[in-house]
Order: sequence, then C-alpha cells, then structure tokens
Amino acid sequence: MKREFQAKIVSPDKKGGLTYIEVPFNAAEEFNGKGRIKVQGALNGHTYRSSLISKGNGFYILVIDKKLQKQIGIDDCDTLHVTMEADNIAVDQNVKTPIEKIEKSSMDVLTAIRTRRSIRRFSKKSIDEKVLNTIMEAGFCAPSAKNKRPWHFILVKNKEILKRLAGNDSNHKPISEADCCIVICGDKNIQGMNDFILEDCSAAVQNILLASHGVGIGAVWCGLHTGTKDSKSLTEIFELPTKIVPIAIVALGYPEEDKGAVERFDFSKVHYEKW
Ligand SMILES: Cc1cc2nc3c(=O)[nH]c(=O)nc-3n(C[C@H](O)[C@H](O)[C@H](O)COP(=O)(O)O)c2cc1C
Repeated sequence: MKREFQAKIVSPDKKGGLTYIEVPFNAAEEFNGKGRIKVQGALNGHTYRSSLISKGNGFYILVIDKKLQKQIGIDDCDTLHVTMEADNIAVDQNVKTPIEKIEKSSMDVLTAIRTRRSIRRFSKKSIDEKVLNTIMEAGFCAPSAKNKRPWHFILVKNKEILKRLAGNDSNHKPISEADCCIVICGDKNIQGMNDFILEDCSAAVQNILLASHGVGIGAVWCGLHTGTKDSKSLTEIFELPTKIVPIAIVALGYPEEDKGAVERFDFSKVHYEKW
C-alpha cells in the first residue's frame, strides 16, 4: 500500500552526518518487511528508490543522499511531502496477474552468446505478445548497480512511429523495417548520469538481444548518444519527462537474413597476470 505523509527534514549538526526523515509508522508491519525494507516513492515529487534504516522499536528512517538533496533543493525546505511504498510492485503484479511468457528456450546460454548476430533485415511476420513479454522480462532481469533498476522500456509497434524513430540516420534504418522496437530509457533520478545508468541500461539491452536470439527473433542494437538530434527527437516523440533519458533502441523482427557465428576469441587481448 502507498503511504503519503509530511516529514520534517533532520539535518546533521556536524559535517559528514546523515540527512534523513523519520518514517511516521511501523514500516516493517506496513510493508511486510523482514530484514532490509526496500521502498520507493517521491520526495516533493522527486522519485527515489532506497532501503530504510531501522532505529529500533519499529522506527525507521529514510536517508536522503547528496544527489537527491540537490534535486529537491533541500536547503530551502523544512519539511517534505513524501510518498512511500514497498519496492516490490513488479513482483507483486506478476504474482497477481502473471504475464504470458515462454517458459524455456531450447537454446543453451553459450550457444546463444556465440551465435547471436545483429539482424537488420526482417520478415513481415509479427511477433506475438508472449514472445515480447519474454524478451522484455530478460531486460528486467539484468544486473544493475545497487539493484536500482533505473530502466523503462517503450514498446513500439506503430509503423509511423517506427519510421520517425529511424529518421534519416542510415544506422537506424533497421528500425523502419522492424516489426517493432523497444526503446530502452533510464531514469536519472533513480540512477544518475554520473553513476551507472548507462551500464545498467546497457546490461538490459544485452539481455534483450540474447533473449531475442534465444527465442528465434532477430534484433539489432541501435545506439543513441545523449544530447544528439536523434535523442532529442525521440524525447519529443514520446514527450519524455526530463528525468528520463533514452539510451538505446532495439529493432526486432523475425530474421530475413542468416548470419553465421564468427570466432571472436582474440588471444592478443587476453593478458595473463600482467599486461
Ligand atoms: C552501443 C552500440 C551501438 C550500436 N549502434 C548501431 C546502430 O546504430 N545501427 C546498427 O545497425 N548497428 C548498431 N550496433 C550493432 C553493431 O554494429 C554490431 O554489434 C557490430 O557490428 C558487431 O556485429 P554483431 O552484433 O553481428 O556481432 C550497435 C552496437 C552497440 C553495442
């Protein structure tokens, strides 16, 4: 259940101390927490994802890190409007309404890694929901720094939007010919640009590519540099909030080209014990 409350900001007397708010209810009872209680929500509208710290006797605090303090403009506030809920929503939703997905792939993980290639020509056959869920789930299963999972996936099937996303960049041509694409975005408020947002989202992209290949779908990673024309146009097309940064587009479809595996082990780039 989502809670909403006002909380007084507690600032450190000394340098190096923690800035935090006290949670005005027993968070363990409220969020069925045992051990670390993971929560998410917003402080004055700025999203966060964090773990509560126990002060004993059912009392908990939420520490506000320096980056979030800056975003909130904490020096100008005494109290904060807080929303807070257990950070297990996706898991809960899956339990309540299980998504339809493929349970197993007949391709083992090493074969998938060794034979995956970028596929840029696709047939007209459309990919069904169950397959797309399986591919997106692979993205959600990626590792992320401090388990922040800053990603969002925009699934696009509309042919007009696919064309707009491809734009005039020849590198992005596969998007216009794909059955659909997934735009992988990151939430800068959850994982900052100077933290590991690019690494987290790239790990999700690679999982998406491998899972696609594993279930017989061709895919290619189309790169986006932040701040470029393509990235800005994408932000406009989807009217993305400022905290959301587009990181990659994966074009997907049934393969219309057959690419073999290539041997890529390169001894000249392996260093044993020393450079
Ligand atoms: C960050 C990144 C950006 C990429 N951008 C594009 C792109 O814009 N268009 C494209 O056709 N392929 C793109 N690729 C795919 C690479 O061209 C491809 O992975 C590389 O040529 C190796 O081929 P393989 O994937 O078949 O092994 C990109 C790959 C990465 C990792």
